[in-house]
Amino acid sequence: MTIQTVATTPYPGQRPGTSGLRKKVTVFQQPAYLDNFVQSLFDTLGDCAGSTLVLGGDGRYHNRAAVQAILRLAAAHGYARVLVGRGGILSTPAASCVIRKHGASGGIILSASHNPGGPDGDFGIKYNIANGGPAPEALTEAVWQHSVALHRYQASDAPDVDLDALGSTRIEQMTVDVIDPVADYAQLMEGLFDFGAIRALFARGFTMRFDAMSAVTGPYAKAILEGMLGAPAGTVINAVPLEDFGGHHPDPNPVNAASLIALMAGEDAPDFGAASDGDGDRNMIVGRRFDVTPSDSLAVLAANATVAPGYRAGIRGVARSMPTSRAADRVAAALGVPCFETPTGWKYFGNLLDAGKVTLCGEESYGTGSDHMREKDGLWAVLFWLNLLAASGKSVAALVQEHWARFGRNYYSRHDYEAIDSAAAAELMDALRARLGGLAGQRLGEYTVELADDFCYTDPVDGTVARQQGVRIVMTDGSRVVFRLSGTGTEGATLRVYLERYEADPAQHHLPTQQALAGLIAVAEHVAGISAYTGRGAPSVIT
Ligand code: G6P
Ligand code: ZN
Repeated sequence: MTIQTVATTPYPGQRPGTSGLRKKVTVFQQPAYLDNFVQSLFDTLGDCAGSTLVLGGDGRYHNRAAVQAILRLAAAHGYARVLVGRGGILSTPAASCVIRKHGASGGIILSASHNPGGPDGDFGIKYNIANGGPAPEALTEAVWQHSVALHRYQASDAPDVDLDALGSTRIEQMTVDVIDPVADYAQLMEGLFDFGAIRALFARGFTMRFDAMSAVTGPYAKAILEGMLGAPAGTVINAVPLEDFGGHHPDPNPVNAASLIALMAGEDAPDFGAASDGDGDRNMIVGRRFDVTPSDSLAVLAANATVAPGYRAGIRGVARSMPTSRAADRVAAALGVPCFETPTGWKYFGNLLDAGKVTLCGEESYGTGSDHMREKDGLWAVLFWLNLLAASGKSVAALVQEHWARFGRNYYSRHDYEAIDSAAAAELMDALRARLGGLAGQRLGEYTVELADDFCYTDPVDGTVARQQGVRIVMTDGSRVVFRLSGTGTEGATLRVYLERYEADPAQHHLPTQQALAGLIAVAEHVAGISAYTGRGAPSVIT
């Protein structure tokens, strides 16, 4: 067992996006592709003597091979210890939890989140820092800049580690601890929520369906919902993580979790439905014949946070990404706490959480979380809702409708145009940006523009500025249309159009969402020329 220095050729495209480096599996399978990226990361991080690294992924195709390669590189870089989840498994929130709990200097998470897996699917790698959250852009940009000039990597030539047996082994001077991927996370959840009340709820016959979508949350949901909380066996479906997610798209939205939505809409619907994504950080909440938007979920949790023991003292503030609806802003105002608006990407919440400025965070993209870690957390959101249902004795629909009656309803929808031509997408955005200066005061359909800009965020903690984070057109009545290009796709470009309309009148709270937003949908087409630029007459996904 020795450390080898291997000559390599740089790959030009190793620039992380919204959430790490995501590429097709075949790209990652190129010689030294992963080794180059990880070596660039380690070189950028510098000395790691005595430090601990956390390592695991969502179990998708290439996960195991990547874990073994990273262990060999980590040993050569001089890490003292690596904590790796059994089977190479760690959900994104569990990795964040383990990093924090064990004082690791950081962690490597192998995931392309909700993107399809398998040999023809996607793979991804991201680095989280010592606070448990995604690396800031300054770090990921530095890694990329280093990667373009990399000419060698260093790795031990040690044989593969047995990832399926708990316990310790060594590679060179480094200890490899294969840990239970669920235990630390489950303990953290037990401290935040009233497990006794939720157990009593299930004991009273409350029914639930949790769809793990053949991705990483299966083992976590089984252990916590069916094990610790006594939900009947079969509550968790698609519970075994598969390398290709069973050919499904593990993205918990009404389109990709269609069978759960159909179940919840039917005569035999259980009381509560939920799903999570590939790496376990996203959540979808569904009531009996009632879908909850992620933006509303954040607002409802913020308004009722004190039902959960972990939040009994109240929340310090809320943060949401700019395109997320402003429902949470109204709750924050009522509670007398600040509401921060950040660019899309969980990493932007990190400083606010570290500085104690906010307790809850959420995004329209089915992400919700809190200061209990530095990632969004799918199962946490589900447990929070269970705690709320147990404490209130009300249904999901009743809770949300009462919320609307009190705060008003923010009708909300996102229209995605996926895999469109990148150049055409860039032209659309450029043309839109060029028009922004003249839009304020203009009449668009039934709306009058109050503000039109390209969202620019100045981090209130460290002053970092993030520009061009999405074009927003805000109307005088508070309605909004937001345009941005996705930073997580791997094929062409994805245009996201976010639509939001505020309605105070409870008599108007029960319209079909697309109908309620029809005027704004027309404005979006008119102002951006979507069909002309993209060649698409309709969005590919509506959530
Ligand atoms: C990931 C990130 C989120 C982000 C979402 C959508 O899940 O962690 O923070 O909201 O992707 O990002 P996109 O750039 O594709 O809109
Ligand atoms: Zn995810």
